[in-house]
Amino acid sequence: MMNSDSKIAIIGAGPSGITALKNLSTNGFNVTCFEMNDQIGGNWVYQDKTGHSSIFKTTHIISSKEFSQYSDFTMPDDFPDYPSGSQLLSYFNSYVDKFDLRKHIKFSTQVSKAVPSHDKWKIYFDEFCEEFDYLIIANGHHWSPRIPTFEGDFNGELMHSHQFKNNEYFKDKSVLVVGGGNSACDIAVEVSRVAKKTSISMRRGYHFIPKFIMGMPSDVFYSKTLWIPQKIRLFLQKLALRFIQGKYEDYGLQKPDHDILQTHATINSELLYFIKHGKIKPQKNIRKFSNNSVEFEDGSIDNFDIVLFATGYKIKFPFFDEADINYEKNEIDLYNFCFHPKYKNLMFVGLLQPLGCIWPISDLQSQQIVKYLSNEWKLPANLEKAVYDQQNNMPYEFINTPRHKLEVDFHDFVKHLKNELS
Ligand SMILES: Cc1cc2nc3c(=O)[nH]c(=O)nc-3n(C[C@H](O)[C@H](O)[C@H](O)COP(=O)(O)OP(=O)(O)OC[C@H]3O[C@@H](n4cnc5c(N)ncnc54)[C@H](O)[C@@H]3O)c2cc1C
Ligand SMILES: NC(=O)c1ccc[n+]([C@@H]2O[C@H](COP(=O)([O-])OP(=O)(O)OC[C@H]3O[C@@H](n4cnc5c(N)ncnc54)[C@H](OP(=O)(O)O)[C@@H]3O)[C@@H](O)[C@H]2O)c1
Repeated sequence: MMNSDSKIAIIGAGPSGITALKNLSTNGFNVTCFEMNDQIGGNWVYQDKTGHSSIFKTTHIISSKEFSQYSDFTMPDDFPDYPSGSQLLSYFNSYVDKFDLRKHIKFSTQVSKAVPSHDKWKIYFDEFCEEFDYLIIANGHHWSPRIPTFEGDFNGELMHSHQFKNNEYFKDKSVLVVGGGNSACDIAVEVSRVAKKTSISMRRGYHFIPKFIMGMPSDVFYSKTLWIPQKIRLFLQKLALRFIQGKYEDYGLQKPDHDILQTHATINSELLYFIKHGKIKPQKNIRKFSNNSVEFEDGSIDNFDIVLFATGYKIKFPFFDEADINYEKNEIDLYNFCFHPKYKNLMFVGLLQPLGCIWPISDLQSQQIVKYLSNEWKLPANLEKAVYDQQNNMPYEFINTPRHKLEVDFHDFVKHLKNELS
């Protein structure tokens, strides 16, 4: 059980790891955070070189600043509605400085192995090993590319969105972007500014949510409609989108095969505009490759220099024994996507995909960890049932693809965590 000598380790000082560190250290816990990079910020540290997981040079967040803040640290007034990547990185650094967190972080220190040992965790680094009583995982889940396979071979260049940093490389090239999520749509738009030809292949139709509705960031607008019963609210939302955008089929896109908010929201005001300007050509899913050509499911064929898969990420914990802890199939058995059923001294932060921003939820998960360690909050007695109930009673029935096994509604999940914390 927790005592004043208990040692806590956090793996990762991205937006999730730093809020875990803040909540634990300001509550007097003995905590050390290990970060393999030489700075905090995780995905929000932009680097030109590929390999390091980062946002794109032009990334602006897709949730508004109002809904993308830690609970006790607001963004500066002069930040726009949708801050840029560099503004967010400066916000994260200010948070770390405000709560004097740097002294608890060991930079350029990669955890290579984490092994359970007699109610403790042995954490291995290149040259040494240290024992901790509790382990918190915040290594992120947007860094290990998920790359689909299709019949045939493509002789051009195959890439993943993980490698996309800016559009310079794509100048005068013929590019096919695959996917319908935020990476695919952002990248298709950026590439089309300089490429010879840009197409986007989607395996289904999506509802594309513009960044602003009635002059408000779309999540701010949405938050003002939460009082409306869900069925009517969703109907009105679809109606509003139809009013602004018309039919997706009129853009050459597929009709969505699901209701609005049954997929992780693709928030993009430019894709439809670029399609209608002839800069991006929508295509169906890929059927097969042959030399430099791609055949799509409707039988059309086109040639490309580059196929870039923006097909998401696999969940990976390279430091765990895969036979013991493995969420690669996205079957998360954690209570509140945080507490492990077998190891009561193992917690995860940020291992979920809200319809909204991740780190305000990481903050609440971390507050719950503090209560758990302080014995002020207890796990449900039947954890397995609680996890089952939680994951089978989401307010939206998300479509059944791997990424949606982590999906939660932002407002609903925040409310649930706040209820448990109160
Ligand atoms: C292009 C792009 C845009 C995005 N936009 C949004 C958005 O608008 N809103 C949103 O909510 N999310 C967005 N995301 C998702 C993004 O993952 C989250 O915003 C956020 O970065 C998650 O924070 P995290 O701390 O959980 O993970 P990460 O940011 O991935 O941080 C994990 C940290 O752990 C460190 N680490 C990993 N393994 C080890 C190890 N073995 N030892 C030591 N350190 C380790 C890493 O170096 C990293 O610093 C975006 C992602 C991408 C790729
Ligand atoms: N501007 C921003 O702030 C920004 C930019 C980029 C990314 N992000 C965030 O980063 C995270 C990752 O986004 P992401 O877009 O990289 O990944 P993602 O959300 O997982 O989307 C992956 C896309 O690829 C499709 N796909 C998966 N497997 C496929 C296959 N075998 N064949 C064809 N298509 C396939 C998915 O289809 P299904 O719909 O069928 O699953 C989905 O359209 C998300 O949280 C996202 O919001 C934010």
